[in-house]
Amino acid sequence: MPDAVTALIEKIRLRTARVGIIGLGYVGLPLARAFARTGFRVLGFDIDPQKVAKLNAGKSYIQQIPDATVAGMREKGFEATDRFDRLGEADAVLICVPTPLTDAREPDLTYVVNSAHAVAAQLRPGQLVVLESTTYPTTTRNVVLPVLERTGLAPGSDFLLAFSPEREDPGNATFSVNNIPKVVGGLDKASGDAACALYSAVVPQVVRVNTPEVAEACKILENTYRAVNIALVNELKVLYDRMGIDVWEVIDAAKTKPFGFQAFYPGPGLGGHCIPIDPFYLTWVARQYGLNTRFIELAGEVNTAMPAFVVSKVADVLNDAGKAVKGSRVALLGVAYKKDVDDPRESPSFELLDLLLKKGARVTYNDPHVAALPKMRHWPHLGAMASTPLTPDYLAAQDCVLIATDHTAYDYDAIVAHSRVVVDTRNATRGVKEGREKIVRA
Ligand SMILES: NC(=O)c1ccc[n+]([C@@H]2O[C@H](COP(=O)([O-])OP(=O)(O)OC[C@H]3O[C@@H](n4cnc5c(N)ncnc54)[C@H](O)[C@@H]3O)[C@@H](O)[C@H]2O)c1
Repeated sequence: MPDAVTALIEKIRLRTARVGIIGLGYVGLPLARAFARTGFRVLGFDIDPQKVAKLNAGKSYIQQIPDATVAGMREKGFEATDRFDRLGEADAVLICVPTPLTDAREPDLTYVVNSAHAVAAQLRPGQLVVLESTTYPTTTRNVVLPVLERTGLAPGSDFLLAFSPEREDPGNATFSVNNIPKVVGGLDKASGDAACALYSAVVPQVVRVNTPEVAEACKILENTYRAVNIALVNELKVLYDRMGIDVWEVIDAAKTKPFGFQAFYPGPGLGGHCIPIDPFYLTWVARQYGLNTRFIELAGEVNTAMPAFVVSKVADVLNDAGKAVKGSRVALLGVAYKKDVDDPRESPSFELLDLLLKKGARVTYNDPHVAALPKMRHWPHLGAMASTPLTPDYLAAQDCVLIATDHTAYDYDAIVAHSRVVVDTRNATRGVKEGREKIVRA
């Protein structure tokens, strides 16, 4: 084993290795917390100076991470910076930057490439670099490695390179970095050894795979599996609705089978930074190999049709009350992409808002976790909106209340009691006993 690698593994063992994390978002910040808790000195890098200032002041900007946690991390030596010339201070650099799609729905690796250049500018012998951002297989080898190699340093001996996908599930109170197994694929044996040594210090189980490509493909398989299965239940939701069969009851019954079935639930469409996006990274790379990923395309088609299905349900209930969508008051409950999180990225609620506004509905929203709608790249025309307090008067003044996100904080009995009609896309009202005739599932 090269001397630099032996020295790095020893530093990891002694917890004297400094861990650099690029991108302090929903993934990078919990990762920084995990390393800080284990006794590593963590240096976080972010291009957003406001985030850096907040963190250094011991404050959080992510709801699941309280201020006290950041303050505790600070006491353990965590520091944030936007000075990328400090990357040389880190013994291990973990890249957790966004991997969105371009407007043409192709992988946008700008953030990853920029990070690779920043790392390359300070690369020194004995450093381990790990890409954690979700991406298509071959990115580590074909996109990141060439940038690092241009320094003249050699992989596997001077520096080490691996891919290890992040499996963070925001809002999940049971699973976080410190109890989710971590898949690690090194470019070579030395890189794999070093990356496994590092993660073994903070996670319960490291699953070592032979190449970065296996680790990259594993993450995309996990997300594609979700996208496809959610599409399946969304398709069945529309069919069963037409047949008068309760899809939720069907799934509850099916999941009593102790093997061979995993429950997925229908909803108003896909949301978040991962499931609606990552499979299309695979679609793109498949095209480079002359293949189509038809399951992914079909799942995308079914899932993106859901907001229109929901709006047609809203139109139906208004119609039943002798009203047009145009001019009707509709309260949208929940703009976060899933329950109990404050993240509205890629939320189907934007599509619902847009469709309803285009039909002339007077739409307002409430979300206990999203006080104001941030400007969204894909929805530049949606004006500024703030969450309306969820009072009985507000609910009673609506022609239709549309539940898009099933936040735990909502009192569903009260919502149904005060509303004229509730369109429920998440079966959030399943426990409501009174006023069930006012509930329509969509
Ligand atoms: N959010 C999730 O649930 C989740 C789960 C698993 C994997 N992932 C993947 O992890 C990656 C990061 O996602 P996220 O949700 O944490 O994103 P995020 O937007 O919450 O955070 C990314 C952070 O990176 C910063 N940033 C952007 N460019 C940078 C650069 N060049 N240098 C330094 N910082 C930079 C941004 O300011 C931001 O703070 C993505 O590839 C995503 O697909 C996300």
